[in-house]
Amino acid sequence: MADTMLSDICQYNVPEDPCAVVVFGATGDLAARKILPSLYDLLLAKRLPTPSMVIGVARTKLTNEEFRARIKTVFIETGVDMTCWDDFCSRLFYRNVDYGDIGTFTNLAIFLQEKESEIGTQGNRIFHLSVPPVAYESIAKSLAQVGLAEEQKNWVRLIVEKPFGYDLQSSRKLADALSQGFQENQIYRIDHYLAKETVQNMLMFRFANAIFEPLWNRRYIESVHITSAESLGVEHRADFYDHTGVLRDMFQNHMMQLLSLVAMEPPSIYDAYRIRDEKAKIFRCLRPFPMDDLDNHLILGQYSAGMVGNKAVPSYVEEPNVAPDSTTPTFAAMKVFIDNWRWQGVPFYITSGKRMAAKRTDIQVKFKEVPHSMYRNILGNHITANTLIFSIHPKEEVRLTFQAKEPGPAMCLRSVTMDFDYAQGSVIRVSAYEKVLLDVLMGDHTLFWRQDGVDLCWEFLTPVLQECDCPDDEERLHLYKAGTDGPKQVRGWMGK
Ligand code: BG6
Repeated sequence: MADTMLSDICQYNVPEDPCAVVVFGATGDLAARKILPSLYDLLLAKRLPTPSMVIGVARTKLTNEEFRARIKTVFIETGVDMTCWDDFCSRLFYRNVDYGDIGTFTNLAIFLQEKESEIGTQGNRIFHLSVPPVAYESIAKSLAQVGLAEEQKNWVRLIVEKPFGYDLQSSRKLADALSQGFQENQIYRIDHYLAKETVQNMLMFRFANAIFEPLWNRRYIESVHITSAESLGVEHRADFYDHTGVLRDMFQNHMMQLLSLVAMEPPSIYDAYRIRDEKAKIFRCLRPFPMDDLDNHLILGQYSAGMVGNKAVPSYVEEPNVAPDSTTPTFAAMKVFIDNWRWQGVPFYITSGKRMAAKRTDIQVKFKEVPHSMYRNILGNHITANTLIFSIHPKEEVRLTFQAKEPGPAMCLRSVTMDFDYAQGSVIRVSAYEKVLLDVLMGDHTLFWRQDGVDLCWEFLTPVLQECDCPDDEERLHLYKAGTDGPKQVRGWMGK
């Protein structure tokens, strides 16, 4: 009985409204390797609404046939199952649009309306901006200007990817530009971390079980550690990264989302609006950084040459397109406090860096030690405390470590781990991009940033960025060897 009910609840929703997905930046890498393959996989899995169509848009002049041939080549190269290619191809079109020329947007509008009546997508549209963020404002304004953002009986949705601005001021400017044509409920700001299985599980784990929540507070939790370590370097993205750095690239978005999910209060119901309200409340409670004691709350680093695995890798400043005197941080460790009743005094250590020893993404909740060790005569006063680990990479799993007696005649303790491995027993797996696109098709905002959250996080980080962007503040930047765990200053910094 219980199982039947569970499988009913778990049935996968399929978007019903017919729709056109318009991908700006369609000749770029992200579109060819992530967005279009994800749309294709949705079609393969019969999760794309009927009828639907995909229109690639970019500056390059291409015919439909040339565009389709390009995409087909990438699909074949990347091992996509081509079973549905003919079907996908018949719904795939291309238009060339010059982002600065309103005339080409008018042409797009005419083309779209013609195709909409031919194919029957009823004016429902998703505009996915897979373009450099500098182009967001002008594209959104032009779409509005030619009437493509208007909703009557139809719906229109806009997808934008991070970064949402460079600081509080530029983020507000972007928000103002988007809001000229699109209402907040039309905008979907992607954070791909939110589509990760373990991340989505955080709230279920916390709020669908009775045993954790009573312990989830300052009385029982010593500290929370949120880590995203990467072994990769800046790769081919130096043009972007050297002006961005780790605080803007990882902290302003992914790390803040992880923080809010561990720390937020339960909303009264699982609903996108209320969940994002609770997240915003956490962002509002972030204790401002003590600017006169920044070194005790923030460690910045930049990688120098080293070995990752058994491969020698160059220093950050030797990477192609990085300024040789760059002071851009590629590593940051931050101690953050949340000023509310639940979390008063509990440090949240947030760490992210490139070119570290190995890729590891997880959230570790460290509980306090037992209040009194009755084994002090044989085991000493300290007994290793419990840790609950939400692991996102290398494995998606939840682990709880606790102490148990080592079997045998002696009184010895050992740490044992109980784990929940996602790979076992999972039924339907979708990639992060498929999940995101599916949610937009269904109009579900739960996994997307709302503008107030973006603003609040920028408000928190902007003073630190202003202080750290200062080029003569080199002392704050610690070098660490590629392939290590970051600057030595971090060791011992994180308490227990
Ligand atoms: C992106 C950052 O948002 O996230 C990259 O721009 C980073 O610099 C990436 O490498 C990490 O994502 P993941 O899913 O590999 O942890």
